[in-house]
Amino acid sequence: MRVFNIIQSSLRTYRVKRYVFQSQLECYSRHATSIWRNKWQHYRALPTGVTKLGSEQFIIKNTMATTDHLTPEINLRLMTPQCKLYHCKFDDTSGVSDPYWAFYWPGGQVLTRFLLDNPSYVIGKNILDVGSGCGATAIACIKLGANNVLANDIDPVAEKAIHLNAELNGVSIETSTENMIGKVDTEFDTIILGDMFYDESFTKQVTDWLLKLLSLKRKMIMIGDPGRVFLNQLPIRKHLHQLEKYRLTEQCKFENHGFNDAAVWTIK
Ligand SMILES: C[S@@+](CC[C@H](N)C(=O)[O-])C[C@H]1O[C@@H](n2cnc3c(N)ncnc32)[C@H](O)[C@@H]1O
Repeated sequence: MRVFNIIQSSLRTYRVKRYVFQSQLECYSRHATSIWRNKWQHYRALPTGVTKLGSEQFIIKNTMATTDHLTPEINLRLMTPQCKLYHCKFDDTSGVSDPYWAFYWPGGQVLTRFLLDNPSYVIGKNILDVGSGCGATAIACIKLGANNVLANDIDPVAEKAIHLNAELNGVSIETSTENMIGKVDTEFDTIILGDMFYDESFTKQVTDWLLKLLSLKRKMIMIGDPGRVFLNQLPIRKHLHQLEKYRLTEQCKFENHGFNDAAVWTIK
């Protein structure tokens, strides 16, 4: 991964001359990538499937528009059982990095359902959707009449997926891949997070940030979560107030073994 990063940054350094040297650079990049792959085969971080096709084409090829989720008002390109990659074993995935954006997570599904059913939380608001993934929640907020929505996800492939999904639903969307966790000077009055508590140390980082935001400024913070253990173990637990709970669809239960429902919470 580090080797690939170094190649990428040297490519950026030569951006001005890139037009002239494009073919040589591409050749160099391909060669270096294959050396990297041979040497570090056991590392899975390089998304070769994505780079080969370009992320937009990769998304189009490996997803399908579907409304088989809790918010059928929003059509989404997702990796469904009809998609070949859905059934691939880990070793057959040609090094595709974890495509979080290709799934509509239980926390995101219930958060979006809740907002669609309770538009007063959205209308006229300035909303930051952190960890937007496929972009469903942000797209719903635009459709509901938010004043301003930013779909934020650090994964650049997710950013492409969000734009494709916005287009599918007839809206345009503002996106950002900046890591905003920890930033306290945000102008957004509403911060929403769907299913962001899937890793222990990351959950601590995000919830510490949310509690700090809350102590500094009055913000409406809403999260969707199926009851992941990390969220329940941390100090934020006593600040969570449940707004609604929903039963998950059969497909969502199948993909998220052990979870039958998920809840929407606000933090106070
Ligand atoms: C489990 S997915 C949830 C996606 C979506 N909210 C949903 O519920 O369907 C988590 C997402 O958070 C993104 N992510 C991880 N770290 C992040 C960070 N520091 N800032 C913004 N997004 C992040 C990942 O790329 C991924 O798309």
